[in-house]
Amino acid sequence: MRSLDQLNAKFGIKNRLHIGTGQGGLTRVVITTPAAEAHVYLHGAHVTHYARTGQPPLLFMSKQSAFLPDKPIRGGVPICFPWFGPKNDPACPDAPIHGFARLMAWTVESTSATDDVVTLVLGLHATAQSKKQWPGDFHARYTIVIGATLSLELAITNNGADAVKFEEALHTYFTVADVRNAWIDGLAGASYLDKVDNFATKTQDGAVRITGETDRVYLNTTSACIIHDPVHKRKVVNAKENSSATVVWNPWIAKAKAMSDFGDHEWPEMVCVETVNANVHAVTLAAGQTHTMKAVISSEPM
Ligand code: BG6
Repeated sequence: MRSLDQLNAKFGIKNRLHIGTGQGGLTRVVITTPAAEAHVYLHGAHVTHYARTGQPPLLFMSKQSAFLPDKPIRGGVPICFPWFGPKNDPACPDAPIHGFARLMAWTVESTSATDDVVTLVLGLHATAQSKKQWPGDFHARYTIVIGATLSLELAITNNGADAVKFEEALHTYFTVADVRNAWIDGLAGASYLDKVDNFATKTQDGAVRITGETDRVYLNTTSACIIHDPVHKRKVVNAKENSSATVVWNPWIAKAKAMSDFGDHEWPEMVCVETVNANVHAVTLAAGQTHTMKAVISSEPM
């Protein structure tokens, strides 16, 4: 691992991008552009903060999040890869929920800046340890573009000799003033698997409103989702490419209390609207091929 001085000498950009120490002593990249500011941890390639200049943050972070090398960060944009949810593999009982990518140290591959945006590219390769849990010989390249929008592109390349199958998610936690007053457009009429009702298949009637614990995998959903936040008087748009599923999650009261890294009273302040390929939309990738999934997050006054 390079020292911070070495990393900044190679990748730092004056007044735009600085690599330093964040919470828990973990390495954090701080990016400043005229339009926005962002923080990205190398642990999990985790975007923990994005705010347009002069506006409240778009991403929710739990005040109780762990910042430890062996724990996921709670909030921001965890990357789920190469599986989503529990692995459900008796041969691999210790496989972490949502895959290992959010628990691994990513490396900086490149940085660049224009007058308007900063681009940070992080990478992750298979290791002997990752191959014990999932056989793929992969390279993940995560391209984060920070400016008036936040663009997140996850490209998975299969460097192995055989095809691989994986699931993936940009598990975005959005800040809302009060989830009980917010609603989500973009999923009306879609079929979803209701994880709080034993994966029953249901159909979304109109906008999504959060009225209790919500954990749904919306299938065949490629359109943008719009989170309406009347208290913050803004609409947050999550547009996506090459993602066929959308997960909507809010733990509500009991589950929030059960999570040690999430405040008991934080559930009204967030909703996850996730850019996903999972379940029937898991990706099969031939040897030598690359699959790219992208989310572009923006906001506008309501
Ligand atoms: C969601 C899942 O995406 O993530 C939920 O659909 C899960 O089932 C939630 O509880 C949080 O997962 P974790 O591992 O970050 O606590």
